[in-house]
Amino acid sequence: MTINKSNKLVVLYASQTGNAEWIAKSINQEAIQRGFKSECYVTDDYEKADLEHTKVLIVVAANTGDGDPPENAIKFFRYFRKIKSKTFLSHCQFAILGLGDTNYTNFNNTAKRMEKKFLELGGRPFYEKGLADDASGLEAVVEPWISNLWVALEKVCERTSTATTQSISATDFSIKAMPRNKDTNTKEATIENVAPNNIASTSTDDTGATRINHTDASTPATTVTTSTSANATAPIIKEITLNDKAVNNLTSMSSDDTTVDTRINHKESTSVTTVTAALNVTTPKPIPLGTPLAIDLSTLSTITQLTAIPRVPSSVCRTTFHSIHKHTPKSFPPSFISTPSPIFKAYLSAATLLTDPDAVKRTLQIEVEVDEEEKETLRFLPGDAFGVIAPNDDGLVRGLLNRLGIGEDEMHKEVEIQSVDDAKNGDLPSHLKEAKSTSLYELLTYGLDITSLIRKPLLRMLAEYAVDAEEKKTLLFLCSKQGLGQFAALRNQLPTVLDILATFPSCQPPFDRLLDVLLPLQPRHYSAINSLLAHPRSLHFAFNVVEFKTEFNVSKRGVCTPWLDELSGKVTERGVRVGINKSKDERVAISLFLKPNTHEFNVPSDLKRDIIMIGPGTGVAPFLGFLQHREWQLKILNETMEHIAHVNRKDVSDKDASDHNGIDANGRDNDEHDVINQAGYKTTQDISSSYGESWLFYGCRDKSKDFLYKDEIEGYLSRGVLSRLSVAVSREPGAGENGKPKYVQDLVKIHAKEVYEMIYKKDAVVFVCGDAKGMAKGMNDTLAAILSEYNGISHADALKQLLKWTDEKKYLLDLW
Ligand SMILES: Cc1cc2nc3c(=O)[nH]c(=O)nc-3n(C[C@H](O)[C@H](O)[C@H](O)COP(=O)(O)OP(=O)(O)OC[C@H]3O[C@@H](n4cnc5c(N)ncnc54)[C@H](O)[C@@H]3O)c2cc1C
Ligand SMILES: Cc1cc2nc3c(=O)[nH]c(=O)nc-3n(C[C@H](O)[C@H](O)[C@H](O)COP(=O)(O)O)c2cc1C
Repeated sequence: MTINKSNKLVVLYASQTGNAEWIAKSINQEAIQRGFKSECYVTDDYEKADLEHTKVLIVVAANTGDGDPPENAIKFFRYFRKIKSKTFLSHCQFAILGLGDTNYTNFNNTAKRMEKKFLELGGRPFYEKGLADDASGLEAVVEPWISNLWVALEKVCERTSTATTQSISATDFSIKAMPRNKDTNTKEATIENVAPNNIASTSTDDTGATRINHTDASTPATTVTTSTSANATAPIIKEITLNDKAVNNLTSMSSDDTTVDTRINHKESTSVTTVTAALNVTTPKPIPLGTPLAIDLSTLSTITQLTAIPRVPSSVCRTTFHSIHKHTPKSFPPSFISTPSPIFKAYLSAATLLTDPDAVKRTLQIEVEVDEEEKETLRFLPGDAFGVIAPNDDGLVRGLLNRLGIGEDEMHKEVEIQSVDDAKNGDLPSHLKEAKSTSLYELLTYGLDITSLIRKPLLRMLAEYAVDAEEKKTLLFLCSKQGLGQFAALRNQLPTVLDILATFPSCQPPFDRLLDVLLPLQPRHYSAINSLLAHPRSLHFAFNVVEFKTEFNVSKRGVCTPWLDELSGKVTERGVRVGINKSKDERVAISLFLKPNTHEFNVPSDLKRDIIMIGPGTGVAPFLGFLQHREWQLKILNETMEHIAHVNRKDVSDKDASDHNGIDANGRDNDEHDVINQAGYKTTQDISSSYGESWLFYGCRDKSKDFLYKDEIEGYLSRGVLSRLSVAVSREPGAGENGKPKYVQDLVKIHAKEVYEMIYKKDAVVFVCGDAKGMAKGMNDTLAAILSEYNGISHADALKQLLKWTDEKKYLLDLW
């Protein structure tokens, strides 16, 4: 049978934080370079993609929440849910690449759901789906999946043009050691591209060595020849073994340090030093230069070939300076930031340190409030979260701009981001499409992620700008199959982009190339811990301040939490609520947006509904909101009842004084009053009987240091709002031994029978909140084990039951 090949393919992406978008666009660009006609869209733009006529479809799909599709795929899923025709996609052959994380119970749920639906609608896979895992590194699956995609694609799609120069996805380089040149006493190592279909131009020099000249218009032509002349200056990167004792010393500086230890990197960028020195005159805080990283290159000398090196990321972005004038922000936060709901401003009003100064983590509660006239913008239920627009650290931003050779004046000039190809502004990364009137400083502060886990595309791009051949070789090695271990070790040091540039001082990429490879800076989310019933203009949230040291003793900070900590004055006294009362002009504004919980992880409206709440550490946050809400619900209900009873008593006496025809003075039937009278007003002693049962499982390290909200929780317990509290203390002597619980899941196990009965006999809803990495999986397994034991079903069936309960909103997770 001859298969009619399609003359076109469509690549779709469903992406929350930018990875899937980057990968999909990269596949699309490579497909075009390979001669295929290809178009790329976000899933929610499915109308533009014309799926009813698309014969070859590739989808890259990520997840958010608990196996939910990203926000830019919700419309797509809604559209597909309505389609029932079993032949709707019978013309279509598809391939799906899922980006997930095994820390979450619903691993790669979006990709799996898509595949199921496409199959139901008659679609046929032309290439097996790939399920990448962020827990172990997406590359491990993504790179081979893309490398092998092209062979499969050839079978279903025809090329409509000839391949262009950059058509390879993975390149192999051979490293040849050349014989010593007697005259100059140099030994040359040449890095040579050996991929069969690489079309980068090569030339032969007078020694006969083949050189690769990169012809990408945006890239300076580079000749990749390693020269280790005996007379030359010391090599840039030494062979360092991570076990070497020296390494700890080499890297024992904080990222705030102003001096670069040159034992790893023997060259310092003079431009950086000069600019920093000049800036120090006016800037009190020293501008960081980045921390050079330890790289074990001991095996590199034995390697003759580097394989599976990703292709050079395409040049997409171009910065245009609009004027020589300083950029004056037209909106704050910058208009290029797009959020799922409108951004509003709230003002810092109080901060409370929740932990002992000696505790392992510093936990803060922050209170913000909106002005009376803005009250309507603050509409949430306990269980909902808010996104905070937080900036990258000012010093880090300036340090990076300085390192790129961009001075104080230039970083504040007005710029616009356009596509290198004017006709293709649609190719711009989503987060830069609206960057029309901004500055380089603003872009790096609010637009780009410069601190999260580094990705290979950054290193691959930098390799093109490494003037020093040893650095180039190292960068290519880190991107290659042979350098996988070293890449992982590099990542474990949690480098910022500035740290990478400090490690490779000869790389001086243009700013635009960073725009091509960096992902968008993400808002940080926090769960509301208060109820609007109690505080109608306020939002309270709690978080751990992310500040820690890496295994190399390098200090690291999160983006948002240290910023909030500083904004609120770094309060020091535990349990003391410090009010931040500033005048209207001096108030500290924070930009926020609402992120309603899509799973109905909200306090049940029915006060009588039984609930089990499991939330160790800051995972307790939404449950405080639940309890506050319940207490106020009842309070308001009682006040209303009292008011009605009062009105009713008055009505009755009025009625006695008037006629007795059964209709009162307000025209209501008298029977209504009887009903209200029967409901009556309840005193506080009656309150506990008005609530359903509620059981909180909480966990902390040390009861005396980090039992968050101990007094509040015990207060709810004594007032009957909370019926039961169980606490696991992980660092208590004997925890985890002889049946003594260490974590919340151990506690649930101990109370298995009661938990089971509450879920089964009393139809309790189970809420789990907090850490996705350890706790959520452990809890899922524990609950499955309980169901399996008491229901006499297999573990697999118990897991299915839990999934079903999630659909039915009986088992709800809010994990981060
Ligand atoms: C819906 C939702 C609700 C949330 N609610 C809350 C909440 O109520 N309270 C709360 O505290 N958080 C909550 N979070 C998490 C929160 O959004 C942030 O991720 C968190 O506060 C860290 O932000 P940051 O910018 O300070 O740190 P980031 O810049 O994001 O850095 C955090 C990263 O640093 C690394 N890291 C941190 N500590 C260490 C360490 N010791 N060793 C090595 N690496 C480390 C990890 O890779 C971690 O991912 C929620 C998240 C979501 C998605
Ligand atoms: C808040 C959050 C929730 C997530 N939930 C899941 C999940 O339920 N299942 C899963 O497999 N991966 C989950 N992931 C992992 C993402 O799918 C993965 O990190 C992916 O690479 C993100 O791609 P993106 O940048 O295109 O959004 C989650 C990630 C985050 C940050």
